[in-house]
Amino acid sequence: MSKLEQSKLPAHVAIIMDGNGRWAKTRNLPRVEGHVQGLESVRNIVTITRELRIPYLTLYAFSKENWSRPRAEVKRLLELLGIFLENELPLMMDEDIRFRVVGDIKDFPKKLQHQLNAAMQKTAGNKTLSLNIALSYSGREEILNAVRLLLKDMDKGDITHIDEKVFQSYLYTRDIPDPDLLIRTSGEMRVSNFLLWQIAYTEIYVTDTLWPDFREDAYMEALREYMKRERRFGSVKENLSGRA
Ligand code: FPP
Repeated sequence: MSKLEQSKLPAHVAIIMDGNGRWAKTRNLPRVEGHVQGLESVRNIVTITRELRIPYLTLYAFSKENWSRPRAEVKRLLELLGIFLENELPLMMDEDIRFRVVGDIKDFPKKLQHQLNAAMQKTAGNKTLSLNIALSYSGREEILNAVRLLLKDMDKGDITHIDEKVFQSYLYTRDIPDPDLLIRTSGEMRVSNFLLWQIAYTEIYVTDTLWPDFREDAYMEALREYMKRERRFGSVKENLSGRA
C-alpha cells in the first residue's frame, strides 16, 4: 500500500463477525465448527490490521443476547475465547498489541474473568494495536450503565454539567476513539445493538462473505471501499478542511 493510501486508512475498524453458523450449515458441520474457523479469521484480521498500522480494532465476539443460545454453543464459545487468550497472549506481547474487553463480563466463569483481566493488565502498556473484544456486550446497556454512573457522580457533586465529551467518558469505550469503519459480514443490514453511541458518523460496509471466509482479500476490499467514501460528518465538502 502506498504512503498516500496509508494516510486514508481508518484509524479504528469495528467488525460484526456474523455467519459462522451458516458457514457450518452449508458444510453439514455442527455450528461450533463455524466458530472454530471464525477464530482463524480473527487471528488473520488481527495480524493484517497490525501490519497496516491501523491502531484500533474492535470485534463483536459475544453479545448480551448470545447468552440465549444453546448452552453447549455458549460453553464452546467461551472455551474458544479462553484458548484464544492462552495462545495469543505471548504473541500480543511480542507484537505490542493491547488487549481490552468492551462489555460486562461479570457473568463469565470466574477463571475466564481472571484470564481476561490478566490479559488486559499484562498488555496495558502495548501501543501498536488496541484489540478490543466486545464480550457480553449490549449497546443499550452500555448507555444505561453510563447514565447510572453519571447520576451517581452528579449526586456526589463530582459532575455539574453533561455534554457529549463528559457522557463519552462513562462508556466502556471511554479511551477508545469512535470507529471510522464498521464492517458486517454475511449480509445482514443491521447493527445488532453494537456500539450504538459510537457509530453516529461511522461508515458502514456490509459484505455477503461469511465470517469464517473473511480473510485478507475480503478485508482489503472493505478498506478500499472505505477509502473511496467521502465523509462529511453532516457538513459540506468545502467546510471540512480543518477536520482531523
Ligand atoms: C456470529 O455468527 C458469530 C458469533 C456469535 C461469535 C463470534 C465468535 C468467533 C468468531 C470465535 C471466537 C472469537 C474470539 C475473539 C475468541 P452466528 O453464529 O450468529 O452465525 P449465523 O448467523 O450464520 O448463525
